[in-house]
Amino acid sequence: MTRNSRLPGFSKLSAEGRLEAIANFAGLERVELEPLASPDNGLPQEIAAHMSENNVGRFSLPLGFATNFRVNGRDFVVPMVIEEPSVVAASSFAARLLRDGDGIIATSTEPIMTGQIHFPEPPPAPVLEDCLAANLPELKEALDRLHPRLIAAGGGFREARVRRLVDPEGHPLAVVHIHVDVRDAMGANAVNSMAEEAAPLLEAWTGSRVGLRILSNLPMHRRVKVEGRVPLKAGGGESAMDPDEAGRIVEASRFAEADPYRAVTANKGIMNGIDAVLLATGQDFRAVEAAAHAFAAYEGRYGALAKWRISGDALVGTMDLPLALGTVGGITAVHPAVKANFKVLGVTEATRFAEIVAAVGLAQNLAATRALASEGIQRGHMRLHARNFAVQSGALPEEVSEVVAAMVALGRSDLQAAEICLAEVRAKRGELR
Ligand code: MEV
Repeated sequence: MTRNSRLPGFSKLSAEGRLEAIANFAGLERVELEPLASPDNGLPQEIAAHMSENNVGRFSLPLGFATNFRVNGRDFVVPMVIEEPSVVAASSFAARLLRDGDGIIATSTEPIMTGQIHFPEPPPAPVLEDCLAANLPELKEALDRLHPRLIAAGGGFREARVRRLVDPEGHPLAVVHIHVDVRDAMGANAVNSMAEEAAPLLEAWTGSRVGLRILSNLPMHRRVKVEGRVPLKAGGGESAMDPDEAGRIVEASRFAEADPYRAVTANKGIMNGIDAVLLATGQDFRAVEAAAHAFAAYEGRYGALAKWRISGDALVGTMDLPLALGTVGGITAVHPAVKANFKVLGVTEATRFAEIVAAVGLAQNLAATRALASEGIQRGHMRLHARNFAVQSGALPEEVSEVVAAMVALGRSDLQAAEICLAEVRAKRGELR
């Protein structure tokens, strides 16, 4: 059965109703999603206590699902853990616009990660280069021997390169980069152990001392490119975008491409979507953040990650991003909610997973840019922030919607307004009784 992520009315359902809809979508039994409903996400304290140090408990954040996603012709509902209002709704909205253009098309490189072996006092050129070339087969054999399962899965050492640099005081240094195909792992463990294994070998071959040996969190050879199209009204289609609106999105995109101050904010919006999926799926979001911003500045000047242009009868968005994600390793096999979220996504390959994550980033950028280029984001946010204030003011779940409606009518979204509106709602309810 083909899956359809266009779940009309999903946002209007109760939390339980949404879980059932997701289970149906993914062809799962509702019980398989139990960790998503349980207050501790099924993560027992005894396991949490061993994940990091000085542990005192676990920490909850809201989990939601973005609907409407279609990536490379396949539909997805995407788990997102985020406290910021409107991100999940915005992703779903933009995914629907992009769906009208047949969804997002993603292409990826092989999952190649880089390890660095640092020579603080490097042998002169070409001694290091020649040593490396002469011993490459031996290096490959030694490094691949460490990870038989990775080799069995089709991964392993691919190549090594020398980079020569000069530090800010003018001292030369050199780095050997090893490139490793890490398949479905994020790859930090495999690459770190290979870099540590390579270090004494390189020291013996060159006679020079090695400094650091560590993974680089800038995976320039592990990339995802996404492209999404929104049909314009001129080209037909009922839900197509007005060409003027598309023009304002292009203007906004050019602004972000020209100005690092704006680019950081636009990229932050992209990371709103990406990080939320990474949290829901137990990924190293710090690594992805570090890589995304380094990549945005790679040409020497910080720039926008995504770009929007009008091409033919569509608004077309593109984004290229280094993404080091894993569907195995880390907490993917340990955390019950992470496991459930992967079941909903229905992907086992890290590369396919990275394509979905990049698609969410592009959709998020479209939604934010569209809002900013039209009515601004505050109006849309007001209702969502008002919900938080209503809850803070002590409104019961059955009172929240009425309090929010009263706050919107009042044109205010702050705690004091919530308290006033709650008092009014209760007084009105009292009168009706
Ligand atoms: C807010 O968290 C994100 C935005 O500022 C992104 C953007 O400006 O594009 C709305």
